Amino acid sequence: MKTVKVNASKSYDVIIGDRLLERLGEYVNEAVGKCRLCIVTDDKVDALYSECAERSLRSSGYETEKFVIKNGEASKNTTSLIALLEFLAENRFTRSDCIVALGGGVVGDLAGFAAGVYLRGIRFIQAPTTLLAAVDSSVGGKTAVDLEAGKNLAGVFHQPSLVLCDTRTLDTLEERIFSDGCAEVIKYAIINDKPMFERLKGGIKSDIERVIAECVAHKAEIVEKDEFDRGCRQLLNLGHTVGHAIELCSGLTVSHGSAVAIGTVIITRASVALGYTSDDELCEIISLFKSAGLPTDCPYSAEELFGAATADKKREGDSITLILPYGIGNCKPYKLPVSELCEFIRKGLR
Ligand code: GLY
Repeated sequence: MKTVKVNASKSYDVIIGDRLLERLGEYVNEAVGKCRLCIVTDDKVDALYSECAERSLRSSGYETEKFVIKNGEASKNTTSLIALLEFLAENRFTRSDCIVALGGGVVGDLAGFAAGVYLRGIRFIQAPTTLLAAVDSSVGGKTAVDLEAGKNLAGVFHQPSLVLCDTRTLDTLEERIFSDGCAEVIKYAIINDKPMFERLKGGIKSDIERVIAECVAHKAEIVEKDEFDRGCRQLLNLGHTVGHAIELCSGLTVSHGSAVAIGTVIITRASVALGYTSDDELCEIISLFKSAGLPTDCPYSAEELFGAATADKKREGDSITLILPYGIGNCKPYKLPVSELCEFIRKGLR
């Protein structure tokens, strides 16, 4: 078992280990004490893990209610948010109560947003059950739902009181969902950890507890410096601007992790074309994504990606900030005029 401390506006532990869900009640008690709990989960995770989580919570003396959404990104919307807020109100949850988000990124983002705005903010706990949620979305306090105009366009910063990651829950993930999380794992290594990049070549699954703890430690360090995403936290968006454009072009049929992998390759290839990094490093990145079961070729044109990317919320007026690899383990923000983005993306496509 490993613990990483996050010292943001609120301090909390991220605890990573095998079979932790069986002890959820003990950890919740340590983090938030006695209160009522609303478990938020999706139908897939509910069938697999709610019973274990509820049993543990009951044996620690907790009274729980449960709100279940349909599995998938389509549930991360304002309709689910309002339904959850109404559920909390109907069940008379008070400001001293707490939400437990049991699931992947969709559940965590939605439940965290509801916790951030219900009664102007109640506590919440993240119990991530996907690799992507474990290494990225459950940590750092970004919460959101999607709007018609794009992903994550409405949300609040609201830090959890605890993140409890039971690595056993990753055993039931479909390969493609596990691969999705691998894209975020590899992202951390490309941003600022070359030795980790080398280690990942030996496999991600075989050393999962350590891999998750390392990613969370990287994220904690960044979040502690820039909780509200005005500076270095933007590094975590490596591959994401183009990645979001790919997701949008595909009508969300290309998964987030796949889109981030392709987006990172496009950005790195453009960096090679500009002379900032080498072709060898690009080949290494492509090969690591491929070995994790991720795609690296883009099915869309520069014009299609440009159209979708300019709807991205990270755009600041007439410029856009991308994260550019200047070698593996060395990424920096790269601001360019929006008028040059299409040409930049073209450089990144083969
Ligand atoms: N997922 C990127 C961030 O938390 O900033």
